[in-house]
Amino acid sequence: MNHYKIALLDGDGIGPEIMKEAVKVLNLVAERNKVSFELIHAPFGAGAYFECGHPFPEQTQKICDEADAILKGPIGLNHEDSKKIPVDMQPERGALLPLRRRYNTYANFRPVYLPKALAHFSPLKAEIIGDGIDIMIIRELVGGLYFGHKETGVTAEGVRFVKEVLEYDEIQIRRIAIVAFETAMKRKKVLHNIHKSNVLKSSVLWNTVMEEVGQDYPEVRIEHILVDAAATYLCLNPGRFDVMVMENMFGDILSDQGGGILGSLGLMPSACVGDNKAYYEPSHGSAPDIAGKNIANPYSMIGSVAMMLEMSFGMDQEAKNVWHAMQSVFADGYSTADLSKPGSGVTMINTPAFGDRVVDALRKLPVPA
Ligand code: IPM
Ligand code: MN
Repeated sequence: MNHYKIALLDGDGIGPEIMKEAVKVLNLVAERNKVSFELIHAPFGAGAYFECGHPFPEQTQKICDEADAILKGPIGLNHEDSKKIPVDMQPERGALLPLRRRYNTYANFRPVYLPKALAHFSPLKAEIIGDGIDIMIIRELVGGLYFGHKETGVTAEGVRFVKEVLEYDEIQIRRIAIVAFETAMKRKKVLHNIHKSNVLKSSVLWNTVMEEVGQDYPEVRIEHILVDAAATYLCLNPGRFDVMVMENMFGDILSDQGGGILGSLGLMPSACVGDNKAYYEPSHGSAPDIAGKNIANPYSMIGSVAMMLEMSFGMDQEAKNVWHAMQSVFADGYSTADLSKPGSGVTMINTPAFGDRVVDALRKLPVPA
């Protein structure tokens, strides 16, 4: 029997609510399979700052260090409340980026998936969605503008200025390129490389290294697309994409657009993978406006569990079962408020009801051999 320690970082806002539903799924997975999970909750985010004086407290770092995998909820406060925390202690800068840096989770997988039968969730017309949306966005997660040198100051003339450096070296680009090509090999063998090499020198090196790595993957067709054009095509013809790879900031923006074309950021789970550690998180924020109401969509959190089962524990079939269970809740005509548009014929259910339905559906699926 395999035993895994999982650090659970509930986070802020809707974090604890959607984490509860993920835990229901983890418990059932343990009950059904020859596996046991030790689930260890640890403070992380703005709540942790107010409780412990740091958004990524030492005790949490230790729990994460010792964990086999980390499941993290969204973090952050609304714009006004954020100001109550010193800039460098705000959870994005003080907890999330340090978490990414600590475990060097350079490969961020953000699936953008909507089967044809759920086309009504999307703001796009059914004819644009065609056979459904199925894209894997691969975002470089520990480089670029997010982690480059930063400076603010005032010039001799008294003008305030700011400088943030977009830096990549070829080692950073090569390792994410390999991840992207390997992913393309497992899928349709087409890779869209997203760049801005008509302006940014960082993209020129990025593209060069992509081409070099591509030599080792002659079966994969690589297509280079400017990031602004890619944003347009995501709306006009998402079906042209399968695997997309891009630097950190482009990936932040285009993956939210991915959530947009699905109809809700609540449909965006993710995996953040390094060579020695991975953590899993919804791609979206903590939605303080709806926190505490139990109306958030836990799909992104449960989907992150599915990605953990596959990528950290090698439980591929059970991961598929979790996806299938979630899709079946939608197929039965239920969803949370974000996807229950008036007149859509969808029955609105709350967060725990969605989790319960996923659990019921999973229970009915055959236990993997
Ligand atoms: C994401 C989030 C983070 C990011 C924020 C919370 C710092 O938007 O994971 O996409 O920009 O990377
Ligand atoms: Mn983002």
